[in-house]
Amino acid sequence: MAAEQNAQSLDSAFYQSADTFFSGQAGTALTYDDLTLATLYSEILPRNALLDTELADGLTLHIPMVSADMDTVTESRMAIGMALNGGLGLIHYNMADKQQLKEVSRVKNHIHGLIQEPITVAPDQTVGEVLERIDAKSYSFSTFPVVGDDQKLVGLLSGNVIKPRYASKKITDALVPRDQVQTIQEKKLGADPITIADQFFTEHPGINKLLVVDSEDRLRGLFTLSDIERITLEKQAQFRPARDDQFRLLCGAAVSTPRTPDGALDRERIETHVGGLVERGADVVAVSTAHGHTKGVGEAVELIRTAYPYLQIIAGNVTAAEGVEFLADKGANIIKIGQGPGSICTTRLVAGVGIPQMTALYVASRVAEAKGVSLLADGGITKSGDIVKALTLANGVICGGLLAGCPEAPGKVMEISGKLYKQYRGMGSLEAMKAGSAARYGHAAKDAGRKVAAEGIEALKEVSDNLDHLLAQLIGGIQAGMGYLGAPSLPELRERARYIRVSPAGQREAAAHDVVEMKASQ
Ligand code: XMP
Repeated sequence: MAAEQNAQSLDSAFYQSADTFFSGQAGTALTYDDLTLATLYSEILPRNALLDTELADGLTLHIPMVSADMDTVTESRMAIGMALNGGLGLIHYNMADKQQLKEVSRVKNHIHGLIQEPITVAPDQTVGEVLERIDAKSYSFSTFPVVGDDQKLVGLLSGNVIKPRYASKKITDALVPRDQVQTIQEKKLGADPITIADQFFTEHPGINKLLVVDSEDRLRGLFTLSDIERITLEKQAQFRPARDDQFRLLCGAAVSTPRTPDGALDRERIETHVGGLVERGADVVAVSTAHGHTKGVGEAVELIRTAYPYLQIIAGNVTAAEGVEFLADKGANIIKIGQGPGSICTTRLVAGVGIPQMTALYVASRVAEAKGVSLLADGGITKSGDIVKALTLANGVICGGLLAGCPEAPGKVMEISGKLYKQYRGMGSLEAMKAGSAARYGHAAKDAGRKVAAEGIEALKEVSDNLDHLLAQLIGGIQAGMGYLGAPSLPELRERARYIRVSPAGQREAAAHDVVEMKASQ
């Protein structure tokens, strides 16, 4: 018993709780690599660790991950992928408000497996024109619904006839006519369209496309057998999609804090914008700025809270306890923590301010609970171990660079010296500010093209695995961390975490060393 107590007090002298550890480090700002978590007695298998996190009332994610509201990270495709995996995407605001509303609608109306805006061809085009389009757009498919000007279904152009030998043929002479095309009425899809489509394909061997039409025979969507088979396999996956109470995918959207020419907050524009988002079903809006502890951001949050009492609001960014209290008092539910940690951020170099993430998260977390708000660790995440550390103090993480190389992120793939890359840029880079994000960095939109101090860079990310695979890797890492700490859930991870600082030699020891690496880890 005495020996046991001894072991316990020895451990607690070295591996300290958050309060003891961070208070002992007061005066030094620490980030992910500066510390490590101690292992603890465990009775759980990593794969059984639960990753559900309640960010706000009615806003529960099944994985604690959010894709950043950046114009090279999150549009509808990324947001759909995040929600399908149990997370959340925040649609960026570097686009016209109207366009952003459309992006939100795409996510909220997404039916997994149903291609809602299939690429179509017109009856008077030639097969040669279709071949050119496939080549120009690098389509990986070659079967197209044929529709007239009124969107009514005319037939289906099968991949079998998309060949140079038929190039001069008119589509109208090469298509499978309407009466031989398999269709289903949109209203018959019911609450579980995948099961309906799955059943259809089982009952119709050899058919691999099912078109969805409305009562006027206008094309409304397309199911393909391969998608349905993939989804049926995925149904066995551990993490459920993040949905609202109407079974729609969750979706968030960023709103900026525009100003009128006389410098006042443009209240009317903010209210109209948020109203549109609410109407489209957005579950949460993010008032995204570089400095959230300001009069302007406080006013914007207050304005939205007053106009939409039940809307969930993310606001930021801050790195101090007072900043958290301020935004919570103005009506925010979820606070973004991070100033300058991002992979494309230069705020700390340009402005000389910002706090490394673990210290910022600790300080913020000490007031968050009392204020009834949750925290998102925003920026600087480069590996799953960083996420585990962040989750010992926050309720979720926001990732930009980690996801920017996925095919689901906006932007074209480019080839440089045989390697494939995608663009990734800071929202405070000059080009992004010109595209709309100037207000986020406290600049007037009209100044964005002139000489303002950029706080972000334009960069490239190597093209990565698709989002599903990438998230599976990251989630595996988070669960491994929870297994080592014996934490079956995120609240227990927060409670059980014990920290210790790592020396520079310890940091080197943490990565692969003294070997010739044959295959880089993901
Ligand atoms: P990661 O490290 O995931 O960071 O790439 C993404 C987060 O970085 C923030 N962000 C910026 N910060 N200048 C900054 O100082 C910028 O230009 C910039 N752009 C994005 C943002 O919080 C994002 O979620």
